[in-house]
Amino acid sequence: MLCPISLRKPDDFHLHLRDGKLLEAVLPHSAQTFARTLVMPNLATPIVNARQARTYKENILRILHKFRYPSNASSPFHPLMTIFLTEETTPQSFYLEDSERTSPPLERSVFAGKLYFATATTNTKHGVQHLPSLFPLFEHMEKHNIPLSIHGEIADETTDVFDRESLFIDQHLEPLIERFPELRITFEHISTKEAVDFVSERARSPNKLAATITPHHLLLNRNDLLGCGLRPHHYCLPLVKRERDRLALVGAARSGERCFFLGTDSAPHGRSHKQASCGCAGIFNAPYAIECVFAALQPDKPAELGCLELFTSENGAAFHDLPLNEERITLVKKTAPYRTSLSVPVPDPVPVPDPVPVPDPDPVPDADAEEEIVVFTPPNQPDDTESLQILRG
Ligand code: DOR
Ligand code: ZN
Repeated sequence: MLCPISLRKPDDFHLHLRDGKLLEAVLPHSAQTFARTLVMPNLATPIVNARQARTYKENILRILHKFRYPSNASSPFHPLMTIFLTEETTPQSFYLEDSERTSPPLERSVFAGKLYFATATTNTKHGVQHLPSLFPLFEHMEKHNIPLSIHGEIADETTDVFDRESLFIDQHLEPLIERFPELRITFEHISTKEAVDFVSERARSPNKLAATITPHHLLLNRNDLLGCGLRPHHYCLPLVKRERDRLALVGAARSGERCFFLGTDSAPHGRSHKQASCGCAGIFNAPYAIECVFAALQPDKPAELGCLELFTSENGAAFHDLPLNEERITLVKKTAPYRTSLSVPVPDPVPVPDPVPVPDPDPVPDADAEEEIVVFTPPNQPDDTESLQILRG
């Protein structure tokens, strides 16, 4: 692989930062790598309007300030806020004041709306049950150029969990893009070849449909989850799929096609919530998200590096009409091993998908205890003495 590598500073168009002590523990890991990030709203009490989004953003900025990110003017980190769409969301939910309707997207309190079907994943019991009830809202979003980010899986208990993404395409996504052709839609964390093919075929110019791809879906298939012991730290939603799906995702990320870009879906849960009778879905990849992308895409020619840079640092910005980041990051070979866990105060219990009766529940950890979050790292090659890592200041 080429080394050292200089890369336009990446953006992360899908990130779970949580709140409280956990937010403080995980935020620096994203802030030191990414310029802009789309912050997901699925807190235990979801962020459902501009006022809550503003408060959440202020918390994030306060913690950034504590870690001195704002003092480094050349390295700003911009949280772009989303709201959780429910059947009660109104157009007004997007704005603090009416004047925001005409503000540039970067200055609005809310950058995008996030759609989850009820119980699709962590903290989504308030999600949508009947999609047509949101059509008037989508009309407003289409007209006012508010992007729609979708957790693209149907959440019907009787549907096989491996088929939920493909069925979402047929049942919801296809009709949605026909009905709202100007609505800017991001099909998030795609995990199947069907999704890659659909987005690639439907993308047009100017593009209104795009997909994010996570580092872990680029690196893992379902054998890595289930094939050699149950690996709870590889459990996320949508589930990682077959090798042919992983290869299609790698192909999409390597292609440089404008409709594919990085969204890490970094989603921290404490070890005791992952290794549990009813474990949480989510992979914490923020510390080495870019290193994982390099490990999966293995660019060894400058042209391949160019495509990778489109994926990590340009396509998402272009899709959202944002300026390109001017700053760059550098990756070098280091002898220091990857850090494999992070100590954090015990996070609140996060039932997934939502309270499901478990016959043999685990003991609740002591509230004063420390908890660990397992860090997703690039796979180690047996003869590796050095690992590729971002130079961090
Ligand atoms: O694996 C996941 N974890 N997928 C999601 O969509 C949500 C996330 C979380 O918030 O834990
Ligand atoms: Zn997510």
